[in-house]
Amino acid sequence: MQIVTDPAAMQQLALTWRARGERIVLVPTMGYFHAGHLSLMEYGRTQGDHLVVSIFVNPTQFGPQEDLDRYPRDLDRDCELAAQQGVDLIFAPAAGQMYPPGYQTFVEVTEVTQGLCGVSRPTHFRGVATVVLKLFNLVQPQVAVFGEKDYQQLITIQRLVADLNVPVAVVGRPLVREADGLALSSRNVYLSPAERQAALKLSQALFRARDLAAQGERSRERLFAAITPLLQSEPRLRLDYLNLLDNQTLAELPTIQHTARLAIAAYVGQIRLIDNILLEVP
Ligand code: PAF
Repeated sequence: MQIVTDPAAMQQLALTWRARGERIVLVPTMGYFHAGHLSLMEYGRTQGDHLVVSIFVNPTQFGPQEDLDRYPRDLDRDCELAAQQGVDLIFAPAAGQMYPPGYQTFVEVTEVTQGLCGVSRPTHFRGVATVVLKLFNLVQPQVAVFGEKDYQQLITIQRLVADLNVPVAVVGRPLVREADGLALSSRNVYLSPAERQAALKLSQALFRARDLAAQGERSRERLFAAITPLLQSEPRLRLDYLNLLDNQTLAELPTIQHTARLAIAAYVGQIRLIDNILLEVP
């Protein structure tokens, strides 16, 4: 497995592969891999000739009060895990190489980024859209694989490639949970045992809503009334948002027609966690 840190070298290599007619798959990540990342790589491996995984903790998607400096990192372990998944190349640039002095260009997806995480993280998706477009230009993938854990991010990237005619197929893959339901996240390492227990309320609430929808419940009001007490019963948990959305446009839904996305964000202690689930009414 090759490790490339220089953006220009990455792009040169990618252009060589493309000139030979070879297919490049990119899994963009911020590293500190868990089983969710590995499942994206496993899928990506089946989609092309060159599987590239980028590892870059992107400063422009963190707010000034957020955890950029504390974000967990372990490049050696990540490289070992990636090699086991059959990854061909790790692209791990330094921040100064991605944003050299004089850098001043940003990409904004204006609507789907407004609600949900966009409320408490107003500059987050601008940073995500910018770095993802840069990664697409550097790695030249035909296919890019993202997790549905960051559902608003996935929809934002799909909007970006559609609006700017970027020739990349953006694929979303299901989020991966621990056996007890907790959605895998690199930030879970910050949770104390008691906080981790409290965090289970998020997935429990989503599962309850999924079951109610499967039994025919369509009303946002009744679904929220059913799950809010569960969330409020946990004193360590402070809800940021709970919302019922169109699965593609992220427009808020008063009722479910066939499918919807139920999305949640909450603070457990100092740690902000997100989760989401597909609701299907038969
Ligand atoms: O989901 C992530 O890890 C990041 O937001 C991404 C897509 C790699 C952009 O920095």
